Amino acid sequence: MKADAYKITDGVYWVGALDWDMRDYHGYNLDGTTFNCYLVFSEDKTVLIDNVYPGFSPQLFGRIEDAFLKEGKTKEDIKIDVVIQNHIEIDHSASLPEIIKKFPDVEVYCSERAVNGLKNYFPHLNDFSFNTVKTGDEIKVGVKTFKFIEAPMLHWPDSMFTLLDEDGILFSNDAFSQHLCLSERLDTEISEDKLFTAATKFYANLVTASSRMVVMKLQELTKLDLVDKIKMIAPAHGQIWTNPEKIINKYSNWATGVAKDKVTLIYDTMHHSTQKMAYSIAEGIMSEGFEVKTYFMHEDQRSDAMSDVLESKAIGIGSPTMMNNPFPSLGDIIYYLNCLNFKSTGIAKKAIVFGSKGWGGGATKKLTTDLETAGFEIFDSYDTLNIPHDDELEQCYNLGKELAKSLKD
Ligand code: FEO
Repeated sequence: MKADAYKITDGVYWVGALDWDMRDYHGYNLDGTTFNCYLVFSEDKTVLIDNVYPGFSPQLFGRIEDAFLKEGKTKEDIKIDVVIQNHIEIDHSASLPEIIKKFPDVEVYCSERAVNGLKNYFPHLNDFSFNTVKTGDEIKVGVKTFKFIEAPMLHWPDSMFTLLDEDGILFSNDAFSQHLCLSERLDTEISEDKLFTAATKFYANLVTASSRMVVMKLQELTKLDLVDKIKMIAPAHGQIWTNPEKIINKYSNWATGVAKDKVTLIYDTMHHSTQKMAYSIAEGIMSEGFEVKTYFMHEDQRSDAMSDVLESKAIGIGSPTMMNNPFPSLGDIIYYLNCLNFKSTGIAKKAIVFGSKGWGGGATKKLTTDLETAGFEIFDSYDTLNIPHDDELEQCYNLGKELAKSLKD
């Protein structure tokens, strides 16, 4: 497939793939994404860092060909000498067997934890000899030095970063990514709002649970004297960070639970009663100068809500009772909040629970227990019978107000 490579700096090209149509990636709603990989020319050698999702190899090979032509070489010169496989997940490794088949002398470098995974994904590579590396190891290819830093759980146990030392480019794989599929490749070519909205969503949904590892990794990069060396971060999805300081600072804040004066309310409703409660709670929160973001789970997407949960000091979960339990849409949210483990930032966010019941109730009690299990600190809960009357809506207002006040302490 004819496709263009994008030159990042002398001898370094983006040769990834654009998936304009992906709308869901393990439960995360998105509007397309990229599978970034990078080709480094060094004297007469080439190093490919990561590869692409099943079905996207034609784009990868088309861009590799274009990079060779842009370097003044010919199609006959095309050869990959080294593959650095920073992570085994299939969106970054699916082309590996084809690369090995095309270039049988290629050397593949990965973390020790990656080997079994790669052999599981590709059983016919069972006898292939992978070169394993760990933090502190480096290889020299031509005149370029590639330094390895293991990054377990960012995003999987096998994940690692590779620093191209001479150019100060950190190939971080999933870390620092965003699910965006755009014509532009660089951070500076799109609005900060669009960029950081996507980066926040990526962190919230895919990195939050590993926040402790993020803190440790940032400390380790500092200890290894690498932070000042990083001039660019080239992640595995989305835009390339030519100003890495901003996203490193964001990761540092997100990983330690720094949040805005904001509360996210997530709710569903049967006959608009719980919805009315949510609106009154929102009024109370706003009366204290706090921002409110609402997610109506009849329509909205769980992975969008998580961005705001990440950046909020507290959340509110509202559900009617249905057969003694919360609505299924809120069950989904609780299950997901539990998975993401926001408490791994070291901060237990406050939570309120509210909802309308027809007779015996049960939803608020269940949600309270489940939110505690998910690492939230319950501030209060409130339920009403059938339709919330004015005095009850005033109580909702006061609940929101008191919650916001407590967040100022
Ligand atoms: Fe983008 Fe963990 O894969």
